This record gives sequence, structure tokens and C-alpha cells, in this order.
Amino acid sequence: MLKSAILTIFALALSAQAMDLQIPSSAEICGDCHREIFAGWKRSAHASAMESRLFQDALKMAELDFGASARKTCLGCHSPVGVQIGDLTLIKKVSWEGVTCDYCHSIREVTTTGTNPHARVEFSMVKSGPSKEAASTAHGTVYSAVHTSSLACISCHEYTNSQGLAVLTTYSEWQQSHYGKESGGCQSCHMARVQGNVVDPRVKASSRLQLNLHEIPGSHSVTQLNKAIRAQLNATHQGGQLKVSVQVVNQGAGHSVPTGSPLRQLILELRTAAYNGKEYREERVYRRTVADASGTIINREHLAFLKGARVVSDTRLAPNQVRTENFTFPVPQGVMSRVDASFYYYYSPMASTAAEQKAKFLSLSRIVP
Ligand code: HEC
Ligand code: HEC
Ligand code: HEC
Ligand code: HEC
Ligand code: HEC
Repeated sequence: MLKSAILTIFALALSAQAMDLQIPSSAEICGDCHREIFAGWKRSAHASAMESRLFQDALKMAELDFGASARKTCLGCHSPVGVQIGDLTLIKKVSWEGVTCDYCHSIREVTTTGTNPHARVEFSMVKSGPSKEAASTAHGTVYSAVHTSSLACISCHEYTNSQGLAVLTTYSEWQQSHYGKESGGCQSCHMARVQGNVVDPRVKASSRLQLNLHEIPGSHSVTQLNKAIRAQLNATHQGGQLKVSVQVVNQGAGHSVPTGSPLRQLILELRTAAYNGKEYREERVYRRTVADASGTIINREHLAFLKGARVVSDTRLAPNQVRTENFTFPVPQGVMSRVDASFYYYYSPMASTAAEQKAKFLSLSRIVP
């Protein structure tokens, strides 16, 4: 009796909040009811797309170098709500929330006919989502096929700038791969289905006990990096030298590794320590190198987005691509040595801490007699 009274009061309190649902609404309000989804989203790169120091520093440089119009370009993906409602000075809290709930769940349609894909967004009391059965007294719901396909991601993960450079090509890399052809969409690897309540059971005893992980882990997740790359290390003595080969496979990413920003890099570092005291180090770097119209190599994110004009080289690993790297060291037969291969994912030259700059994930070692 008492329990149901408390539940009623709680439910009333929540529907009162629903009345306060602003259009568009802060994620905090959506999170009142969608608690577990909110907690996942809060840990995502999407939630910190505005707050991130790295982004804020890059945004300042963009404005300093190219004026106020550059700001709008950047905010188009990092604060899509801000741009949609014309809040470029970010007065509203929701504009600070980066890629937030109400943006993605107000997408009504995605078109791919222009230079860049375009999401038509309609902020209202109706939220678009993946289910035909969902029903809520807090807001209307509408089924959207876009949400169960890679089109939900395309408007920010595929981008050609005003110089004609395809800066972000994650969607087309995916589309051309067997994942794209055989229907493993972005969600299949980035929004795993996990046990959980879509909505707080005190608000509605929903029949759905699984939700899509809104943390959307990518290159900042060591688990994802380990899924992406598999490697084998072989080392033997041949003709008085030490021959080392590392076979590298992009076995788990549905796009190139690295994908996204041209400043990302995958680095293979090879170290050999011979027991005669000699040490050697070599590396291989998998990346896209881009230049501006005058041929200067670009080494800052804001320049890549605004001034990148052509790809100078591209050594990234396409989906399922296998690459064998060979190394030779002057270690004679009879001298034992230890060989270590380590993989690093390098994020940004603008990073201010070592952890923000790169992450080490896979390591392999061999003792060669
Ligand atoms: C007062 C509680 C409450 C608030 C606040 C709330 N929702 Fe909901 N929402 C629900 C309920 C209840 C459902 C229906 C769940 C079901 O039927 O399984 C729902 C369903 C949804 C769905 C449909 C999911 C699908 O599978 O298609 C989406 C999308 C959604 N909400 C997004 C949002 C967003 C975005 C916000 C913030 C702007 C928000 N909700 C705020 C209670 C709430
Ligand atoms: C087969 C699984 C798979 C599919 C399908 C997939 N991804 Fe990924 N994705 C990964 C893995 C694993 C990583 C981590 C390795 C890396 O960062 O390259 C990753 C990393 C990323 C990153 C991080 C890049 C960066 O610069 O930090 C982005 C962005 C991304 N994926 C977006 C997408 C989008 C958008 C789609 C759909 C068009 C998609 N992914 C499809 C597995 C997948
Ligand atoms: C980057 C876009 C994006 C953001 C940001 C986002 N969602 Fe979603 N959401 C999706 C997609 C896509 C699906 C459907 C995934 C599928 O079915 O494959 C989904 C599914 C849902 C569902 C249905 C249940 C489920 O898990 O499948 C609800 C409810 C929901 N989101 C609420 C929210 C709330 C609340 C927030 C903010 C805390 C939020 N979403 C942020 C894209 C987003
Ligand atoms: C409104 C624009 C927008 C949409 C829509 C969007 N993203 Fe993103 N995404 C971003 C931005 C911006 C970042 C980079 C945030 C940062 O690090 O500052 C990002 C980062 C990511 C990352 C990198 C995470 C990491 O570990 O660094 C992944 C993975 C990702 N998005 C996947 C997706 C998927 C899957 C979808 C579709 C369900 C999607 N995104 C839809 C804008 C968007
Ligand atoms: C079309 C969408 C889009 C536009 C426009 C855009 N970005 Fe991004 N940005 C992303 C995505 C997506 C990522 C991260 C994942 C990746 O590499 O694909 C990202 C990542 C970044 C990062 C790295 C953040 C990190 O956590 O490592 C910086 C810095 C950045 N962007 C700055 C800018 C600046 C400055 C501008 C404007 C000149 C801009 N971006 C314009 C989508 C965009």
C-alpha cells in the first residue's frame, strides 16, 4: 500500500518533470527517466565533444586563424544543438552537451544527395527511436529506420570540406567493406545490446530489458583497440643477421585503422635488445598524411578540417587488410636477443598529457636464441 503510494508520488514527480521537457531538452532531464542510457552516454566521447580541452583549444585556434565563421563549422558536429537553434555563443546548457540525446532522437530523415550528408532535425515533443512498440506518456515516440542503420552516424562521420578534401571518410570506408555490404552497421560494433532498463522501472515497467550501449566506445577504449588489431611476431637468424617480421591485421574494425581525423595514427614500435649490449628501435606508422593547397603538411585538427586540400599518402589498414612488416638487425648468429613489438594509438599532437596523446595496447615479445 505504502509502496504503491510512494511509486505513485514518484511517477507524478517524474511526469511533472516531463511537462518541463524543454525543446530541445538537456540530457539531464532525459536521464531522469532513461537513467542507464544517460550513465552510458555520460561516459562517451559524444558527451564531452564540447567540453574536451583538446577541442576547446582547437576551436580557439580555428577562430584566431579563420574568424567567426570557422566556429560554426566546428560546432556543426561538436555542438549540433547549438547550431540547430542558433545558439553559437552557447548560452543554453544543452548546447554545451556536445552530441546530446535530443539531437540524435530528433533526427527525422537523413539525405545523402549533397556534397555532405544532411540530417533533418525537428525538435518537438516527439522522439524518434528504433522501436515500433515504445509508448510513453512523457513524450511522443516515432519509429525511425535511420536509428537502426549507419545513416544515424553519417552526418558527422563523413565530411568533405570547402577545399574538396574528404576529411572524414569513416562511413564510406565502412560502406565499401564487407561489413557495409553484409549489413553490420556502426551500431553492431559500437552500440552493443546489453542488459538494462530502457526506462526507470518506477516510471514504466517496460517489457524491454535490453538497451543499446550509449557509451559508444571507439579509439579511447583499449578493449576496442584490442578487437581491431591482431598481430604475429616472428624472428630468426639468417645470413648473420636477425630477421624480424610482424604480420598486422585489421581484423575487427569495420573501417580503416585509424579512421576519422587525419591526425590519428597507429604506430608499431619494434625494439630489439641483443645480449651483447646493442639496442635497436624502428617503427612503422599507419596514417593519412594531408596537405593544404600550397603543399604544406597539416599537423593540427582545425587546419585539417578547414584547409586540408589533398591526401599526400595513406598507409592505413583497410578492413581485413593484412600487412607484413620486415625488419633486419645486425645481430650475429649466436648472440641471443629479445624482440618486442608494441602497438600505440596516437590521438593528437595538441594533447597536453601523455595519456591524451597516445595509448599503448597490444604487445608481443620473443627471445631469439
Ligand atoms: C518522464 C519520463 C521520461 C523522460 C523525462 C524522457 N522519457 Fe523517453 N521514454 C519514456 C518512456 C516511459 C518511454 C517508453 C519506453 C517503452 O515503451 O519501452 C520512452 C521512450 C523513449 C524513446 C523511444 C525508444 C525507442 O525504442 O524507439 C526515445 C527515443 C526516448 N524516450 C528519448 C527521450 C529523450 C531524448 C528524452 C529527453 C529529451 C526523453 N526520452 C525523456 C520516459 C521518459
Ligand atoms: C566490425 C566492427 C565495426 C564496425 C561495423 C564499425 N566500427 Fe568503428 N571502430 C571499431 C573498432 C574495433 C574501433 C577501434 C579501433 C580504431 O579506433 O580504429 C573503432 C573506432 C571507431 C572510431 C574512432 C576513431 C577515432 O578517430 O577516434 C570512430 C569515430 C568509429 N569507429 C565510427 C564508426 C562508424 C561511424 C561506423 C559505421 C559507419 C563504424 N565505426 C563501424 C569497430 C567497428
Ligand atoms: C549519437 C546519437 C545518439 C545519442 C547522443 C543518444 N542516442 Fe539514444 N539511440 C541512438 C541510436 C542510433 C539508437 C538505436 C540503436 C539501435 O537500435 O541499433 C538509440 C536508442 C535509444 C533508445 C531506445 C532503447 C535502446 O537502447 O535501444 C532510447 C530510449 C534512447 N536511445 C535514449 C537516449 C537518451 C536518453 C540519450 C541521452 C542520455 C541518448 N539516447 C543519446 C542514438 C543516440
Ligand atoms: C552530431 C554529430 C555526431 C553524430 C550524429 C554521431 N557522432 Fe560520433 N562523434 C562525433 C564527434 C564530434 C566525436 C568526437 C568527440 C571528441 O572526441 O571531441 C565523435 C566520436 C565518436 C567515436 C569515438 C569514440 C572514442 O573512443 O573516441 C565513435 C566510436 C563514434 N563517434 C561513433 C558514432 C556512432 C556509431 C554514431 C551513430 C550511432 C555516431 N557516432 C553519431 C559526432 C557525432
Ligand atoms: C563533420 C563533422 C565534424 C566537423 C565539421 C568538425 N569535427 Fe572535429 N571531430 C569530428 C569527429 C567525428 C571526431 C572524432 C572521431 C574521428 O576522428 O572520427 C572529431 C575529433 C576532433 C578532435 C580530436 C578530439 C579528441 O578527443 O581527440 C579535435 C581537436 C577536433 N575534432 C576539432 C575540430 C575543429 C577545431 C573543427 C572546426 C574547424 C572540427 N573539429 C570540425 C567531427 C567533426
